[in-house]
Formats: sequence, C-alpha cells, structure tokens
Amino acid sequence: MPYQPVVDSDIAFFKTIIGPDQVLVDAESRQRYGRDETENLVFPPEVVLKPSTTEEISAIMKHCNQRCIPVTPRGAGTGLSGGALPHLGGVSLSMERLNRILQIDERNLQVTVEPGVITEVLQNAVKEKGLFYPPDPSSRGSCFIGGNIAENSGGPKAVKYGVVKDYVLNLEVVLPNGSVMWTGANVLKNSTGYNLTQLMVGSEGTLGVVTKIVLKLIPFPKFDLLMLVPFRDLEQAGEAVSEIFRAGFVPSALELMEINALKIVSELVTDALVPVTEDTAAHLIIEVDGNNMDVLMQEMEAIGNLLSQYDIGELYFADDAQQKAALWKLRRRVAEAVKLVGYTIEEDTVVPRAELPALIRGVKQLGVDHQFDVVCYGHAGDGNLHIRIHKPGVPNSFGHAGVQSILRDLFKLVYRLGGTISGEHGIGLIQKDFMDVVFDPVNLELMRSVKQAFDPNQILNPGKILPSLASA
Ligand code: LAC
Ligand code: ZN
Repeated sequence: MPYQPVVDSDIAFFKTIIGPDQVLVDAESRQRYGRDETENLVFPPEVVLKPSTTEEISAIMKHCNQRCIPVTPRGAGTGLSGGALPHLGGVSLSMERLNRILQIDERNLQVTVEPGVITEVLQNAVKEKGLFYPPDPSSRGSCFIGGNIAENSGGPKAVKYGVVKDYVLNLEVVLPNGSVMWTGANVLKNSTGYNLTQLMVGSEGTLGVVTKIVLKLIPFPKFDLLMLVPFRDLEQAGEAVSEIFRAGFVPSALELMEINALKIVSELVTDALVPVTEDTAAHLIIEVDGNNMDVLMQEMEAIGNLLSQYDIGELYFADDAQQKAALWKLRRRVAEAVKLVGYTIEEDTVVPRAELPALIRGVKQLGVDHQFDVVCYGHAGDGNLHIRIHKPGVPNSFGHAGVQSILRDLFKLVYRLGGTISGEHGIGLIQKDFMDVVFDPVNLELMRSVKQAFDPNQILNPGKILPSLASA
C-alpha cells in the first residue's frame, strides 16, 4: 500500500491516545520538527506527536502501521545525518516527554532511563553516585540518550572507553506493528541468541522505537590532565596520533583540531581563549585520566617527550577545572561554528588510525583539485576525522550534484584506506546514496531483508540508511 496522508480521523485518534495538547499541526511546530543539525534542510512532518509512555507509542505505531503512515522518531534534533528529518511527511514522533531517569542501580552499576533524557543530565546524575557513563558527543548538553543509541554515538572519550554500543545492555522497544519487547537482559555477558540489542543500537530508528534503556556504568576516574600540543604540520599531527598508541599510552581523549577550526570557533566562543602562534597548523588535544595523579603526571610528561620528535611548539597545560572546561568548550563547539560560517555537512569519516596522515593528505588534495576549502577536526585517536567542505554559494551538500561527486571521491579514498563513511553520526538521509561505496550488493540486500523483517510495511523512518525499494 502506498503511504497515506494524515487525515482528520488520524488526528482525532492521536488526540484520544495522547491528549489534544500533545498533537501539533500548526505550521511553526511542523517547521521546527522538520529540521535537525545536519544542514539547512527542512522537511516538515504532517503532524508532531509527543507521547509520554510506551503504551501510547505502541498505540500510535499500531495505528500508523495499519494506515501506512510514515513515522519518524525524533530525539533532540541534534543529529548530523538527517535521521530525524521526516522527508516523506507523516508523523514526527518526538521522544522529549519520555525524559525520566528510572533507576540508578548502584549495586550492579547500571542505570535505566527513558530515551528523552539529555545525555549530560544522565552523566551528572550518575556522577553524583561516583559513577561514569563515558560516551560524550559534542552535543551532550542538548542531545538525548535515545538519539545517541539510534546513531551509536561516540565523542572524545570513546578512544579509551568505547562508544554507546559498549554500554547498552538491554532495550525496551516498540516495533512498527505496535508490539513491545525487551531485546536482551540486564547482564554484562550475553550469548543467548541473536544480539537484538546491538542490532537496535545504531539502527537510526528504522527498526523499532526505543522506549527504555539499560546502560552499564563504571566508576568515575578521580583525576584527569589535559594538554594542547601545537604542530606546525597537519600531517605530522596525524602521524603522532598512532605513535602515541604504539608507545603504549591510552589517552582518555586524543582530538585533532586544524588551525582553521580553532580560529573559527574562537570567533564564536570568545571567553575561552588559548594561546596560538602564527606558525601552528593543527593542535592535538590530549587527555589522560585515572585514580593516581603521580602516574598521570608521569604519563603526560612521557607523551610530551615522545612528541618532541615532531615539529611542535610549546605545550599548553590546562591547569585547573576552568581552563579544562574552556578548552573542551572550544573543541565541542567547532561543529556549530564552522557551520555558521558556511561549511556544509560534517563528514564523519573513519580510517584505521595509522592511515590518518594519508586521509588528511588525500582530503587536502581533493580540496585543491575541486577548489573548495576544507577543515578537519575530530576524534583522531579513533581514526575518526570530521571533514567539512566549503564551496562559496553552496549552502547544502545534499542535493548538490557537484558536491555529491566530491563526497563520493572522498568516500572512495576512505574505503581504499580501509575505512568507512560514518564513525558516529550514522547514514540517515544524506549519506545513503554512498552506501554502495563501502558495501557489496549482497550486504545491502541483507540489510534490506533485516529492515523488511522488522517493518514489512516500511513505515518506520522510511528512506533512511538504505535507498527505499520504492525509490531504488
Ligand atoms: C564533534 C561532533 C559534532 O565531534 O561530531 O564535534
Ligand atoms: Zn564527533
């Protein structure tokens, strides 16, 4: 059955399920829920629904499945691949009212939350108990934990502590037909059948709607140290990254920021200045953490000594909590800052760590060949480099044939280096046409079959990750 428009009787039904105030059809709301942080794209849904319980979501899904109305789940709208954009209309299913931390289990070091909890709120709540939930996307002050699960998000701490998938133990999920299930068990090991929990993580809201989440926690490390290392050559900064690991260090963050990124973000974040000399091409931000300050100081000194083999400037140590926060603020707001000055889509390429210099070299060459500015920053310790391009007069990469062909060349390069398209943002709407660069038809067909098994009517976040059968 083709997709059906949302009609008055659907609206009336939704109102009986979640109450009239939680059903929004006004133009302003539809506009607001038609955007995310990807690019300047807007695809207004026909209606915005704000349920607050699993049962309500189940009733909505059952109805939409029967009526063949597309449903696009939505977290905080901070996504960078268009996963929450309702480009086929239908329902925007906002999770913002499912925002409770249900239980912090201090006996087992676990937490149970609803998907609409802001990641940093969750982190702070468990920190009060001495516990740590490490995945920390740049948007952690506004993004939702449910969205992090949808994208299998990472962030700076991933290099030591892993990404979201490493912390998800069990999920309550509403399937497209309205049935409700738990995917696993609240245990640290589980070899019981197919791993539906992990299938759900990173599935970008295309297989089910996550309504409860059980996460593993770890003890909060007592101390951390942070330093900024200026490099006079960008590729050398890339080389140093894998050298640090080969020498036996495990930093709790190892980020790279090209000088342009720092300059642009410094215009936006004016209260967090760091010293920069004219000859700097890039910085590495290096953090170590643990429970013994002496050990950490020795480790930092040893990393500094190791890096002296490169052409580096003076090391800058963030001495106190305020300086550390200032440095992290600069790093975390780069994406926002470069977007504001006209850089399009934040690419999320990831390569084996030692290939970083080759990736940087290749990207810069593409920039020269196609005459666009390029800025690089990101989670170098994971080989996960964010790349943004800026071509004057091109506000969006999505739908722009010229930029799409440049991006295809970029992804081919990434693939040749043994890498892939996305390390933490997902494929969503705007990168699905590149999936053939990194996957065989066999893989894509298998993924389609998985989608079909969960969502035979193709109503849940349709047209994401894979080109839909209708438009293929
Ligand atoms: C970052 C996010 C936006 O690394 O991916 O800043
Ligand atoms: Zn990132």
